[in-house]
Amino acid sequence: MAEVIDGKSVAEDVVRTVKTLTAELVAKGKAKPGLAVVIVGEDPASQVYVASKSRTAKECGFHSLQHTLPAETSEQALLKIIAELNADPAINGILVQLPVPAHIDAGKIIQAIAPQKDVDGFHFINVGKLGTGELDTAFVPCTPAGSMLLIERVRGKDLSGLNAVVVGRSNIVGKPMANLLLAANCTVTIAHSRTKDLPALARTADILVAAVGRPEMIKGDWVKPGATVIDVGINRIPAPEKGEGKSRLVGDVAYAEAAREAGAITPVPGGVGPMTIAMLMANTLASAYLAAG
Ligand code: GUN
Repeated sequence: MAEVIDGKSVAEDVVRTVKTLTAELVAKGKAKPGLAVVIVGEDPASQVYVASKSRTAKECGFHSLQHTLPAETSEQALLKIIAELNADPAINGILVQLPVPAHIDAGKIIQAIAPQKDVDGFHFINVGKLGTGELDTAFVPCTPAGSMLLIERVRGKDLSGLNAVVVGRSNIVGKPMANLLLAANCTVTIAHSRTKDLPALARTADILVAAVGRPEMIKGDWVKPGATVIDVGINRIPAPEKGEGKSRLVGDVAYAEAAREAGAITPVPGGVGPMTIAMLMANTLASAYLAAG
């Protein structure tokens, strides 16, 4: 049976370290790191994520600011708030929770965030730095950055020559994940909905990352024996066995069968999920250190 990768515990380690380094920064007379989280609309899942981000920021000792805006907020009004946060020296990180309502151009919003405060790592400048291997000064998107940390926990820092297959090509997870694995000298393949014979391709992977948003799509017999399986999916599915109208969370990987083949695997929940918020804190702290000089 596979080793279960405890993302919750690794995330707690990261948050503890961020807390300590924040206290050191403040002890030197510098301003505490400031994180602004902006949410537009009432998407329930987004509200849960955003509340958790703000809560963890406070736990780290950050200055934590949250803008909760109605769904009908105009693009112009949102751009004005971003401009104010860009100019606010107390703010080191700005995060606009996605998705935004359809009348707002998400791309335009992301590009309006100052690259040095783009703790999500979605701005072209940070995407470009990651793509060209400028990892020292890039903000790396939080979910892939957290996934890399989990991979390194089980395989060590030297991933050189390993075959990595990333299933999913999103800008938030799939593409940056592939770039991180490439920077770590893996041989990387990005698979997606048009990929031919995905099961056979997946079976070549020493590191298999699932980020497609399809519940339990990746089956046990797609997993190479001993592989490291990172499940980024968070899917809510009906669970009538728990009672009328009940649901449960599952990943993109059929966990029980994959765990019989894998060397190590992340569970859902408690795997990659907690790492996303922890890495957001790490990115915000890094931004504050850079601003403090
Ligand atoms: N929505 C889902 N994941 C993310 C994320 O990592 N950042 C932002 N801003 N929105 C998201």
